[in-house]
Amino acid sequence: MLPQWIIEKKRNGDALTDDEIREFIQGFTRGTIPDYQMAALAMAIYFRGLSADETAALTEAMLRSGDVLDTASIAAPKIDKHSTGGIGDKVSLILAPLVACCGVAVPMISGRGLGITGGTLDKLESIPGYRTQLATAEFLHIVAACGCSIVGQTERLAPADRKLYALRDVTGTVPSIPLITASILSKKLAAGVDGLVLDVKCGRGAFMPTPETARELAHSLVHVGRQMGKQMTALITSMDQPLGRAVGNALEIVETVAALQGCGPDDLMEVTLALAERMLLLAGVARSAAEAGAMLARQLESGAAWRKFLDMVRLHGGDVATLVHPDRLPRARLQEPLPAPASGFVAAADAEHIGRACLLLGAGRTKTTDAVDHAVGVADLVKIGQPVAQGQPLAVLHANDERRLAAARAQLETAFRITPAAAPPPLPLIREEISL
Ligand code: URA
Repeated sequence: MLPQWIIEKKRNGDALTDDEIREFIQGFTRGTIPDYQMAALAMAIYFRGLSADETAALTEAMLRSGDVLDTASIAAPKIDKHSTGGIGDKVSLILAPLVACCGVAVPMISGRGLGITGGTLDKLESIPGYRTQLATAEFLHIVAACGCSIVGQTERLAPADRKLYALRDVTGTVPSIPLITASILSKKLAAGVDGLVLDVKCGRGAFMPTPETARELAHSLVHVGRQMGKQMTALITSMDQPLGRAVGNALEIVETVAALQGCGPDDLMEVTLALAERMLLLAGVARSAAEAGAMLARQLESGAAWRKFLDMVRLHGGDVATLVHPDRLPRARLQEPLPAPASGFVAAADAEHIGRACLLLGAGRTKTTDAVDHAVGVADLVKIGQPVAQGQPLAVLHANDERRLAAARAQLETAFRITPAAAPPPLPLIREEISL
C-alpha cells in the first residue's frame, strides 16, 4: 500500500493493519518514506488515535527498527523503571542499586533532561569520569557484574523513535497517548527486560498535568506492555512540588548520596520505595509488599545499597572519591538564599516555577544540543506544609553567573506561597496504582 493511502486511512478514522504500520515505520527508518509523510501520519494519529492493537504494532515496529539486546546470559529477572519525568526526580539513582541488592537485574537506558524536567544522565555526568555512552557488550557486562547499569540510548536502539520524536517535537504531535506509549515502550523494551514499573507523574511540574491524562497514559502503557508479553505496573505520583529538597545535577547527586546513606527526604524515599517494592514483586523475589519493603529496608540500613552505587559508578569510570566527599562534586561559585517574605506556612512550592528557575540558571536545556552546567540549581527547598519565619530561606540558589542568578531569583520568587494559617495537607504522593 502506498504511504499516502495509509495516511488517508488513518485520517478517515479507520484502523491500520500490523503490516501497514510495520512497513510505514520501516520505510521511515530507512529514509524511503520522507519526514513529511511521517509527520502527516503522526498528525492523523494525534486526531484519530490508535487502538491498543495498533499501538502494540507501532511499538513492536519501532522496537524492531534497531537492536534488541539479548540479555539471556543474565540469569536474574530483569526489571526496569521508567518515569515520565519530574522536577528533582533522582529516584532512578537510588532505586537501581537498591533493587539490584535484592537479586533483580536493572538494565536501565535513561535520557537527558529537556525543558524543565531533569535527566538522569545529566545527573550522573556530574560525577567526574562517569561514562553514559557504552557499547552494548560493556553495558551487559556491568549489569552481570554488579546487577545494575544506567546508560544512554545508543544510535542503534529504537532509531525510529529518535527520528520520530524529533519530528513530533516540531510538528505539534508530542501530546498523543499512543505515540507517547510507543515511544517509551520501544526504547525500554529494546533493553531486553522482563518487566517494567512506570512512574507516571501528575501535577504542575509534569508532562501529564491532570489525573485524567495521567491515568489514560498509565493504562495505555500497562495494557500495551502486557500485550507484548511483559510484566507491567504503573503508579501515578504527584509532581506539584519537587521531589526532595534539591533540583540541579550535582546537587541531586549530593541528595542521592544522603538517601543511600539513610538520610533521604521523606517524599523522595516514599516514591523510591513504592516503585522499588513493585519491581521486587514483578520480579517474583518478594511475595508481598511487606516482604519487599523489609528486604529494601535491610539493604539501605546495612549500607549495601550505597556500596552497590559506588560499584556501579566505578564500573562506569566515575570518580567515587567525589561521592565519598561530595564537596568535591562540581560546585557553583555563587550561593544566595531566597528569604521568606512573611511568616506562616508554605502553601505552594510550585514544581514548574522551580524547574524554570533551574533552567534559567543553566541546569537544563531548551534544545537537545545545549550544554548543561552541572553545578547550578536550587537546594534546601522548603516543603508544602512547613512553617517558616519571615527572612528564613525558602531555598538557596546555586549559580555561576550574576545575570542568570538575577533572572532565576525573580522566577523562583513566584514559586512559593506563604499563608498565615496551616494549609491543608498536600495530596497523597502515591495517587493510584494501575496494574489492570
Ligand atoms: N518521553 C518519551 O520517551 N517519549 C515521548 O513521546 C514522551 C515522553
